[in-house]
Amino acid sequence: FIPDAVLRVSVETISQSCMPPKDVLLINGTSPGPELRLTEGRTYWIRVYNDLPNDNTTIHWHGLTMAVSPFSDGTPQASQWPIPPLHFFDYEINIPVGMAGTYCKSCTSILIFYHSHVGFQAVSATGPLIVDDSGPVPYKYDEEKIIFLQDAFSSDDTTIEKGLTAKPFVWSGESAVILVNGKGGGTADTTVCNASLSVINVDPKKTYRFRIIGGTALSFVSFAIEGHNNLTIIEADGSYTQPYNTSYLQVGTGQRFSFLLHAQAAPPKKTFMMQFEARSRPTVTRGFAVLNYGSDLAHAPYPPATPPMTLPETTVGFLDYVLRPLIQDEPFPTAAQVTRRVTVRVHQEVSGGRTIWVENNFPWTEDTPREPYLVSLYKNDGIEFPSMQRALTNGGLDPVTVAFPAEIGEVLEIVIQNTGSEAGGVDAHPFHAHGKHYWDIGSGPGTYNAAENEKRLIGTSPVKRDTTMLYVYDTSASNNTDAGWRAWRLKVVEPGVWMIHCHILQHMIMGMQTVWVFGNETDLIRGVPIPEVEGYLVYGGSVMGNE
Ligand code: C2O
Ligand code: CU
Repeated sequence: FIPDAVLRVSVETISQSCMPPKDVLLINGTSPGPELRLTEGRTYWIRVYNDLPNDNTTIHWHGLTMAVSPFSDGTPQASQWPIPPLHFFDYEINIPVGMAGTYCKSCTSILIFYHSHVGFQAVSATGPLIVDDSGPVPYKYDEEKIIFLQDAFSSDDTTIEKGLTAKPFVWSGESAVILVNGKGGGTADTTVCNASLSVINVDPKKTYRFRIIGGTALSFVSFAIEGHNNLTIIEADGSYTQPYNTSYLQVGTGQRFSFLLHAQAAPPKKTFMMQFEARSRPTVTRGFAVLNYGSDLAHAPYPPATPPMTLPETTVGFLDYVLRPLIQDEPFPTAAQVTRRVTVRVHQEVSGGRTIWVENNFPWTEDTPREPYLVSLYKNDGIEFPSMQRALTNGGLDPVTVAFPAEIGEVLEIVIQNTGSEAGGVDAHPFHAHGKHYWDIGSGPGTYNAAENEKRLIGTSPVKRDTTMLYVYDTSASNNTDAGWRAWRLKVVEPGVWMIHCHILQHMIMGMQTVWVFGNETDLIRGVPIPEVEGYLVYGGSVMGNE
């Protein structure tokens, strides 16, 4: 057995941006890790080695449906046991034809990324993954560029995790800098540090497809390019969209977009700043990169002393109701076809001295001691399964297993309702769903009103997404609330254990995660046989050296 690719998760003491050295997790020696390129219509096996001396790890393929191999979704205590130190796990990744667009140009994952799903590791243990179309690409461009966004904090992962779960809670601190392709400086509003920036070379007159990946841990990024204010979005979360022209983009943690950039014919200067700024946080974290015309620069530029652009302050409703799929591959379920609405109320509270996030009154973290749900389903070993009966009397959540069960064939309307914090205040949350992508049916302030939203949907055609935002609204708004909602529709088709969670790593550690169990043991075993991956059913897995 020879894996198609190998990823090794390790730790090194390095300095990021201009900060003092600290422990940083790397993948194959770098952060971001290597760019993986896969082609649709194939099954890949990717071996992940955990070279960390003290910590578990996993890898999740963010944006891939994983229908054929739900056991490879990489969620610790949900779809698999985590990989212990000095062990490895073989992930099966199946990419059906049509995934990247041959016949279904709107339905799928093209731009994905991979990241650890353990603790705070994804802050650096992450990298780009792109699925190439096997057929023609619906947009014309000359070249592709990647913009991979990450946050860097002054503390290491262990310190941050300890603080977030301490009594009383200790915040991680805001992100010091937004890194672009692993580089950057320009930390606080006025501080400039001598960390060189990423340079992206372009030629005049050419058209570029930029793939931007929101690999940040916390930052909800607003982004624009000096001198280039006509960007055309053509892809959102792995689905091609109709062209949408914009002067700037917003990229929440976990979101991905492709946009076309038409390079100027006769640029008045050689270098243009790309400016990145976090929104909906108490301070503005920044990052920069350089768009450079022509050949390589003699030396990479440093961050500018003064940000060259003023980016929009507003965040709410970006792309909602206006973005359209390029091709509607399957009709969008109407309100009448919805079989059940589940409202997930997210709230921050202090419980037993800890500050936690709860969903319908329950936090979920990977530290809850239990066998991973999917392992229990495969083994049918008497460990309690989520009960639909209990869930139906409890707003969709079974309190015994702390999971949201759903039956194959259901059409769910999932409403994520932000209710802020018991201490007052509201945060923005990028909500991400594993498994099949959902139709995003919009967002708004206050409390979700199905009838009113139905009116706004008239004449629209929702895009399939996997990560969309709960925004912070203006406190002076007429409804007098700064929290809001986000709504999705989803067909329950694939059996498996799929997570829906806020993609802010701090919030995940504090409990802002939910587990959804689609189908029962019978559906699972019928649809997806017990994986033959060594060590899947027991914690401990495969020991290095035994491969
Ligand atoms: Cu990218 Cu569950 O995450
Ligand atoms: Cu959050």
